[in-house]
Amino acid sequence: MGADLDYLAAMMEIAREAGALLMDYFHRHVAVEYKGEADLVTVADRSSETLIRSRILDRWPGHDILGEEEGLIKRDGAYVWYVDPLDGTTNFAHGFPVFCISLALEYKGKRIAGVIYDPTRDEMFAAEQGSGSCLNQQRIHVSKVARLSESLLATGFPSKKRHKNPNIFFYHHITMRSHGVRRAGSAALDLCNVASGRFDGFWEFNLNPWDTAAGVLIVEEAGGKVTGFNGNPFHIDSRQTLASNGLLHQALQDEFAEVFNGRGMEPLPDLGEYQP
Ligand code: IPD
Ligand code: CA
Ligand code: CA
Repeated sequence: MGADLDYLAAMMEIAREAGALLMDYFHRHVAVEYKGEADLVTVADRSSETLIRSRILDRWPGHDILGEEEGLIKRDGAYVWYVDPLDGTTNFAHGFPVFCISLALEYKGKRIAGVIYDPTRDEMFAAEQGSGSCLNQQRIHVSKVARLSESLLATGFPSKKRHKNPNIFFYHHITMRSHGVRRAGSAALDLCNVASGRFDGFWEFNLNPWDTAAGVLIVEEAGGKVTGFNGNPFHIDSRQTLASNGLLHQALQDEFAEVFNGRGMEPLPDLGEYQP
């Protein structure tokens, strides 16, 4: 069976409830704990996940759930939920209002429904496999920008294993060849912004399944494309996410190939160049 409207309606209801909980904590400026050197977590992340898990299990006690904060809890294996209870924790912790909740439902290995809710703007992105993507119940579509030189893109820099992340090279290279590359700090919202045509493409290294599961479906159902950096099929455990409106995909893959083939950054200029 595929997704049915009951799933999507329930997912939106759960995401809205978790969104209200996050906004409540957001206004109270909660304390920050560290999972790693720059990997933050707050009581809001944990409470949101607890709430989402209990709402899912109240309705579907046999479903598996993989959530960022509590890991995988397996039951029957046919249905799996991917839960990011707060995507954009660093923003949240600093009072920067760019964060969301991301929920996706998979059936026998296929993502069938996804919801991403931005409680700061009351924006609900939702997609069902084969039925398109919506923002607040209105159909959305990826952009029609076909030239990299006219595109606005997004990327992110994960907070784990920062020293091993080569993304600064790609950030530099693609910034020089586009209208710009935004780095807003929520991969799930970056994907939604590709789906709705606000961005023309997005890439990131080392995302996790809970970051991408809903957003990838929302991009694809909005007419976009998601692959690895050389065009290989996207897999939920992939460490490479390249999303675009489809029209720019080859151009972005070509840029990746160029950097991987050794194109580095321009040398640093002398500070004197910036003197009056
Ligand atoms: C992070 C955000 C960020 C991305 C990181 C993610 P979190 O998720 O999506 O934009 O750059 O890779 O880990 O930790 O805030 O849920
Ligand atoms: Ca995340
Ligand atoms: Ca998170």
